[in-house]
Amino acid sequence: MCGIIGVLGNHEAAPIMVEALKRLEYRGYDSAGIATVHQGQLDRRRAVGKLVNLSDLLVHEPLAGKAGIGHTRWATHGAPTVSNAHPHRAGGVAVVHNGIIENFRELRAELAEAGASFQSETDTETIVLLAERYMAEGMNSVEAATATIARLTGAFALCFLFEGEEDLIVCARKGSPLAIGHGEGEMFVGSDAIALAPLTDRITYLEEGDRAVIRRDGAEIFDAAGRRANRAVTQIQIGSARVDKGGYKHFMAKEIAEQPGVLGAALDHYLTADDRDIALPGNLSFADCDRLVMVACGTASLACMVAKYWFEQIAGLPVEVDIASEFRYREPPLSPRSYSVFVSQSGETADTLAALRHTQGKVGKVISVVNVSTSSIARESDVALPILAGVEVSVASTKGFTCQLTVLALMALKAAHERGRISSDELAAHLASLRTLPGLMNHALLQGPRFAEIGNELAEAQDILFLGRGPMYPLALEGALKLKELSYIHAEGYASGELKHGPIALIDQRVPVIVMAPRDALFDKTVSNMQEVMARNGKVLLISDPEGVKAAGEGTWRTLALPEVPPLLAPILYALPAQMLAYHTAIAKGTDVDQPRNLAKSVTVE
Ligand code: AGP
Repeated sequence: MCGIIGVLGNHEAAPIMVEALKRLEYRGYDSAGIATVHQGQLDRRRAVGKLVNLSDLLVHEPLAGKAGIGHTRWATHGAPTVSNAHPHRAGGVAVVHNGIIENFRELRAELAEAGASFQSETDTETIVLLAERYMAEGMNSVEAATATIARLTGAFALCFLFEGEEDLIVCARKGSPLAIGHGEGEMFVGSDAIALAPLTDRITYLEEGDRAVIRRDGAEIFDAAGRRANRAVTQIQIGSARVDKGGYKHFMAKEIAEQPGVLGAALDHYLTADDRDIALPGNLSFADCDRLVMVACGTASLACMVAKYWFEQIAGLPVEVDIASEFRYREPPLSPRSYSVFVSQSGETADTLAALRHTQGKVGKVISVVNVSTSSIARESDVALPILAGVEVSVASTKGFTCQLTVLALMALKAAHERGRISSDELAAHLASLRTLPGLMNHALLQGPRFAEIGNELAEAQDILFLGRGPMYPLALEGALKLKELSYIHAEGYASGELKHGPIALIDQRVPVIVMAPRDALFDKTVSNMQEVMARNGKVLLISDPEGVKAAGEGTWRTLALPEVPPLLAPILYALPAQMLAYHTAIAKGTDVDQPRNLAKSVTVE
């Protein structure tokens, strides 16, 4: 899941590409590189680690040229080294690639037999070597790129650049998105429209299997069968301003703090003027649907797990939740009366997109809940519900999660009302309590120093457990996921009733156990499970409201009191301690909060 950029411009391409790569760094930051053609000569610069290393290198070793391709890498095949960094080059061909070439072993063997020598351990290098071979056999650049693309299986977005060709980029898309940007006498290619936003707002999205031959005066696009294809040019609205930290030390801190505001704006967007009803796009109705199939990855899948409780308890609508990487290979039976729902902050997660495509034509409606409204998942669904979180930069999802939960809660309430499970007055009462959520969140965030104190202590631990019951069980999973990805401390989330079926063996004085227990119908049961931990010398951090802490806090290691909250809203409010504890633990451990090791914001490979 790398970011790629291509430029056929009227100005120096290197600074334009570096700026675009900054906007694509969410896709990976293991290495970065650019190649240009200048006075006919193909040349490249590559550096390991974050983009800043490439920028530094370019200061000492600048790269001239108005035509270029660039890449920011999340390593799949081969370690993050300079030789594995893109652009890859063989002879007069350079390529940047996002995705995985699944038949690269066969291609590599074939190339090795023909005498090719390899400079990297990547699947991508087979692409340049093949193209170089075809050119040596007499093909021109476009023919060689076309013949090479035809040999590739797997998922890819590719850009080719050729020595001696200052007005040519050939690109292709299969499985991984690619957008072409139209400028004035200039053309651009990018992994997404956001990367191209400062350059142009006129975008053509390539479709599955498309290949494009791009020159400064336009793009010729060919479909999977090789026929000329007309693809629309759409005017998009994405701010070109780079998002900054707004005075915070990290994007994550800023994004945590933004939650009350963006959540309030999402409510403004979906609630009718009298705050008594919910307006969903596309006249989306759940009256005739008999089941929801919800699919997502990571934190977004945990939002689906919370929503399952809401849809089933409040709306009486059965829900299946699957993680996207498992869903389509399980071949679940689907019916036209069910709706599929895909939740994704980026809208580009490869597994979620593939799962969405798997349900197309097999269910009554394909619905998505997305943050990036120009994304592939939004564009390919029948109804896309924006979560309106604003740009989320930090790799750890925070406001994305709580806005996903908010939109899912609104969907569940709408379904409950339409299906006659709650009256109009009950709906209005739920909406009124949702309106209190931004205020409750602000109140919870005031406890920053307390989170920091506990985070400092948690940083000493080797293992940490999170427990929760009912909708707080997915929150326990989210707490553990956040902590793992940010602080690199091993953490697990469990349904608190499940603990005694095995995991309780892990309990000793060195393992902090974080119990998420709002005072709901399950509070006493969760507290009993907490007592079982304490009876074995477990070190418990109880997170509840002031009454809950008063009732059950005795004998615990630490307590954190959040404002009292109606049960429906508890999972949204309790996301904050999960985020804050992970954030402060990471600060105490000195890890890279916004770009933790080995991760990428958007996972665009399977
Ligand atoms: C969460 O903090 C993660 N970084 C990750 O689990 C993320 O939620 C997941 O990759 C799904 O991404 P998406 O919402 O963009 O599809």
